[in-house]
Amino acid sequence: MKLLIYNLRGVIYVLRDVRISNLQVSFNGQHVLNNLSFNVSAGEMLAIIGPNGAGKTTLLKAILGLIAPQDGRIVLETDRRKAVIGYVPQSRTIDEETPIETRDFISLGQLSGIFPWLLKKEREHLKQVMMLTDTQRIAGKTVGRLSGGERQRAFLAQALIRDPDLLLLDESTANLDPYAQEKMMQLVRKINRDQKLTVIFISHDLHLVKKYADRIMILSPESYDIVSADELPDAQTLNSVYRLPAGIHPSGDRKKRLGKQPV
Ligand SMILES: Nc1ncnc2c1ncn2[C@@H]1O[C@H](COP(=O)(O)OP(=O)(O)OP(=O)(O)O)[C@@H](O)[C@H]1O
Ligand SMILES: [Mg+2]
Repeated sequence: MKLLIYNLRGVIYVLRDVRISNLQVSFNGQHVLNNLSFNVSAGEMLAIIGPNGAGKTTLLKAILGLIAPQDGRIVLETDRRKAVIGYVPQSRTIDEETPIETRDFISLGQLSGIFPWLLKKEREHLKQVMMLTDTQRIAGKTVGRLSGGERQRAFLAQALIRDPDLLLLDESTANLDPYAQEKMMQLVRKINRDQKLTVIFISHDLHLVKKYADRIMILSPESYDIVSADELPDAQTLNSVYRLPAGIHPSGDRKKRLGKQPV
């Protein structure tokens, strides 16, 4: 997919597709991800669902380069020197007494120059990101004192501050009440649509993934499939995926997967 970017040289096209081919990750000789191949188009919102231990977090960590795959390739195309990935990990505990205000917490990662303070354009960018994520109201609160929903918005803002090419969210709506879950997903969807930011998010909430994702990866320890939101199998079929019955077929055997993979 081509995205228009305007710069001083005129209009250029930037490709930001994520391409994963034949990915294999093992721990202690046990395959967690085996022969996984899929593309995520620029500007797409892909959800990953699947039972505990299926390898969802491992997949995100492999994309981030935090885990070295045994085999396969992960390509994130961009015209920048190096693709920037925004990441909100699955569990991030913050001590209640952490003496850092939310504004400073969000701007961590912005301080890349030689000065230990923000330049004017960085301050402006911080303001924009905080407006977008509705975190200005909590700017002066210490992060340890934020509610679950506020904290997730602060994490999201921190992930966005470096203007990423790809946003990875690992169960960002877990532990939020239904209203906060919807608000969080609406925000992510808005950023995805307005900025054409590619998003991969993990969730156990089938209602949310069906509502907000363009496509859904169903990952189990022995198989995977990618379907559009409309094609998400019914709850009974998914239940069987979550309970890992004998009917699940090994990944790599396209015909025997749960459905077709419209990549
Ligand atoms: N660094 C590691 N060393 C050894 N085993 C690991 C490591 N990281 C993950 N695993 C194992 O890989 C498997 C997949 O873990 P992963 O965290 O990716 O699952 P998940 O799908 O994210 O599960 P959950 O829904 O519980 O978050 C698990 O069996 C886990 O114990
Ligand atoms: Mg996980």
